[in-house]
This record gives sequence, structure tokens and C-alpha cells, in this order.
Amino acid sequence: MLPSSIKFLRCVRCGAKLEIDVFLSEKEIIEGILECKKCKLEFPIIKKIPILWDDFTKYLSSRRVLGGKLYTSVHSQKLKSFVKSSLNAKDNDRSSLEVKWSKIYQNSKNSKFYSAIKNNLSSLPSSKLVLEHGCSIGIMTSHLANSHELVFGVDRSFSALEFAKKQFKDNLDYFVADSLNPVFGKMQFDLVLALNVLEIIEPLELLESISKQITKGYFIISDPYDFDRGPNSVKNPVDESLLRANLINLGFKISPSTKKPSFIPWNLKLNARATLKYKVDFVIAQKY
Ligand SMILES: C[S@@+](CC[C@H](N)C(=O)[O-])C[C@H]1O[C@@H](n2cnc3c(N)ncnc32)[C@H](O)[C@@H]1O
Ligand SMILES: [Zn+2]
Repeated sequence: MLPSSIKFLRCVRCGAKLEIDVFLSEKEIIEGILECKKCKLEFPIIKKIPILWDDFTKYLSSRRVLGGKLYTSVHSQKLKSFVKSSLNAKDNDRSSLEVKWSKIYQNSKNSKFYSAIKNNLSSLPSSKLVLEHGCSIGIMTSHLANSHELVFGVDRSFSALEFAKKQFKDNLDYFVADSLNPVFGKMQFDLVLALNVLEIIEPLELLESISKQITKGYFIISDPYDFDRGPNSVKNPVDESLLRANLINLGFKISPSTKKPSFIPWNLKLNARATLKYKVDFVIAQKY
């Protein structure tokens, strides 16, 4: 974590500012604990990545393999005990699934989808503060840091952010967090991205929550509308027109070039013999 990021972070439970106890640092904070003095919640920083989850035990309960890895990898004793005390509960484990998907994104970063989005974003003005939700390994987040002042990426997958953090830029930082939680409090962003996340993060809630992060600025959204995910499906899926209608209701104007649905190819290489071929819709929305 960049030392300068602390001023942007808030307690996900009560919105208070966080205080930091640093155990290991170089140019970035490698290990430490962020604390909310008000509700006594603590958030660990491990391998330079803050985990801003309301309940760390719950986060690890569905990632016990990751929990074991974090426990052996941390150096400071205080953080070791913190991870250990959170390693009790047990749910279905997501660790290997998250490792698998971060590898799929690494193998798919040359998909034409990303160059098409980069191309579309090149016409936007340079922003002071940018946020990408569900940024995964940071393909777009890192690109945006080349032309915008300060860029943040949020994802619930520690494995994905571990890969993203391999590339250091002094205006780029990543946080493990749930996009529906107010990790940045009432902070306003000039540009927010949510690419291909509507199947996983409840769409209407996400749109509403992102709308609160933009008073004046751009919202870039893409999606393949692949909502049929059995018991894991979101409650309220959207389609091309519902997405646009919801954005308009929230006070956004849709850019003329994206009023009509598009079908941008997004190929995900699952393994040497299988590729998932999506055609995704793309919207540039703006509040002036
Ligand atoms: C389908 S991937 C899209 C990745 C990237 N945006 C792209 O288009 O290449 C969805 C990402 O959202 C993340 N994610 C899922 N639910 C989340 C949540 N509630 N909060 C934050 N990130 C979440 C996943 O870990 C995953 O990296
Ligand atoms: Zn708090």
C-alpha cells in the first residue's frame, strides 16, 4: 500500500478514518494493521495489500488455503497472531478458484477487448481520481495510471491483487474489498470503471453505490450479461436497455456513441484447449 493512500480509506462499518500501525515497509507499506478506533475493527495489510473486509474471519472462512499461505508468509508476530486468530471458521473454499481465475486473466490479457476499451478511454480527459471495481489483475487499472493522476483498484480476490501489485507505479494502489462496501467513505471520483462484474456483484446495488461516488465524472461499464449462474445468480439481472435506463434514472447521460448496444469480443483462455468467447456491451455514462 502506498503510504499516501491512508487518507482515502475509511472504516467499512462506521465510515471513520483509519489509523495505521506499520510493521514492515520499504517504499510501500508491506505489513501492518489499519485500525478504526471508533468500532475497534482491524484490517490487515499483507504483502502490500490492505484487506478491507468487515469481518476478516469471514473473509478467510471461504479462503482457508489462502489463510494458511498468508499465515506462513507474514513476518511480523502481531500480524501472524492476527491471521491465526481469524482462521477458525470454515466454508466452501474459494482460494483455488481465485488463483485459477487470476491465471486465466493473465493468459487473456491480450484479448482484443482490453485494447478496444483502452482505445475508447483514450478520448477521455485526464482525471484526478480514478477507481476500478472488480479490477482483477489490474490490466485496465495499471493502464489508466499512465494517463490519470491517482488510480485505485478494488477486488475481493487477494490472489488477483497479488499479481496486480507486481507492477509498481507511484500513483496506483489496490485494495481487497467488497465493491458494495464504502471503503472510500463519501470520496468522489472523476472516473469509475466496472467491467464485466454485473453477474457477480448485485447490479442495481452496484449501480446505485457507484452513482454515489460520482457527482461530476465518467462511469465506464461493460458486460456480457451472462447471468445464469445457478444458485450463485444475482437477484436482479439487467439487459442492454435496463442498464441504460437505470443509469439515466441515476442521473447519468449516456454518451451518443454507446447509446446502442455493442458486441465487443472478449476471449478468456480457460486452458490450452478451451476459450470462453463473450461479446460484451459497452457504455460510457457521464454526470456533468
Ligand atoms: C469477471 S471478473 C472481471 C475482471 C475485470 N474487470 C475484467 O473485465 O477483466 C470479475 C471480478 O470481480 C471480482 N469481484 C467479484 N465480486 C466482487 C465484489 N463483491 N467486490 C469486489 N470485487 C468483486 C472478482 O474477484 C473478479 O476479479
Ligand atoms: Zn469503524
